[in-house]
Amino acid sequence: MKNLIAILVLIILYTACEYKPPVIKSDSQKKDSLVSELEMYKAPDSSSLKNDDWGKMVKYGLLLVKNTAYYIGPDGIVGKNLRNKMNCTNCHLENGTKPFGLNFFNSHKTYPQYRARENKILTMADRVNNCVERPHNGIALKLESKEMTAIVSYIKWIGENYDASKHQGYSLKYVEYKNLKADPKNGALVYETHCKSCHMTDGEGKMNLENVTYTYPPLWGKKAYMEGSSMHRVIKAASFIKYNMPNLKTNFEKPTLTDQEALDVAAFINDGSIHERPKFKGISYPNIHTKPIDYFQGPYEDGFAEAQHTFGPWDEIEKFYIDGGLKVHK
Ligand code: HEC
Ligand code: HEC
Repeated sequence: MKNLIAILVLIILYTACEYKPPVIKSDSQKKDSLVSELEMYKAPDSSSLKNDDWGKMVKYGLLLVKNTAYYIGPDGIVGKNLRNKMNCTNCHLENGTKPFGLNFFNSHKTYPQYRARENKILTMADRVNNCVERPHNGIALKLESKEMTAIVSYIKWIGENYDASKHQGYSLKYVEYKNLKADPKNGALVYETHCKSCHMTDGEGKMNLENVTYTYPPLWGKKAYMEGSSMHRVIKAASFIKYNMPNLKTNFEKPTLTDQEALDVAAFINDGSIHERPKFKGISYPNIHTKPIDYFQGPYEDGFAEAQHTFGPWDEIEKFYIDGGLKVHK
């Protein structure tokens, strides 16, 4: 009996020592630990492509994404679709293969999908034409053209091994904008310090020697991306900038700017009262229920002003949708 009691006491003591209070993780911690278990996706290498029909088509797609202006720019050799001399890779960095650099890792697998800007289901090819029309201010590629087939083939090939349950790195990493408001005035100072050396004093960028495209693409002005394009939205632009700019020395593991600085400089670049850019003439977001919270132009479903939608703070706006049981569109 004595022995039994001694064993029981030992067991109780042992389990008591082993007991650790449960750690309650916040949502963001849960998300962080989930993200860290995912492997960073690596896009395939174009040298692995064969010289068969598929390989040739994908390689042509790569050339189009890289040297877009040369092929289909205002003086393009196969078409004159674009009205500016930017290339897809100016925003879809490293030809759409840079982690969190607006890459195409999971693009092909997520289309067709509902797109709020048009309020309808778009195919991958329709989505490519969206970027041709805006930001590139251009005329849509013919859906049956070799160029469209090549670009869509290339996008499919990049994401062929991407599995959202195993991989990360797709598209963008978002800035934390909670409690923050973007300040264009401070953004001007950030621009001066971190951006002007390449994108130049008037945001006009720098053409290459052949005058075909840019060494440093423009950020505003008549030749830059258009109003209402995704880069014109402050949260999206700040997310791109924080994890990718200044170019070459910045990536998702090594951001240069803070969230606040990225929001400020994105606001400075995109502020319509300071900088001009081409306007889009069609209708965007015909269904106001699905308009993103950082879109610069009303009408909105909530009662908040255009200035608050454009520059934040976005917390109250988000609360309006959450309290109403509605989806927050970003
Ligand atoms: C000025 C910058 C810019 C340029 C230039 C540009 N895009 Fe985009 N593109 C964007 C942004 C920003 C998005 C939105 C990503 C998002 O929804 O988060 C986007 C989205 C896309 C998507 C959808 C990706 C997805 O996974 O949902 C495709 C496809 C695309 N662009 C193709 C192109 C092609 C092809 C070109 C060249 C003809 C091009 N883009 C030029 C900025 C640009
Ligand atoms: C060292 C030169 C350099 C610096 C400094 C730099 N950029 Fe860039 N930026 C580039 C280049 C080059 C590209 C195009 C990338 C490509 O084609 O591979 C680019 C692309 C961009 C784009 C998308 C394309 C466009 O023109 O709309 C934005 C937005 C941008 N930069 C913003 C910034 C901001 C904001 C800063 C400062 C925080 C900055 N950049 C600093 C070189 C630079």
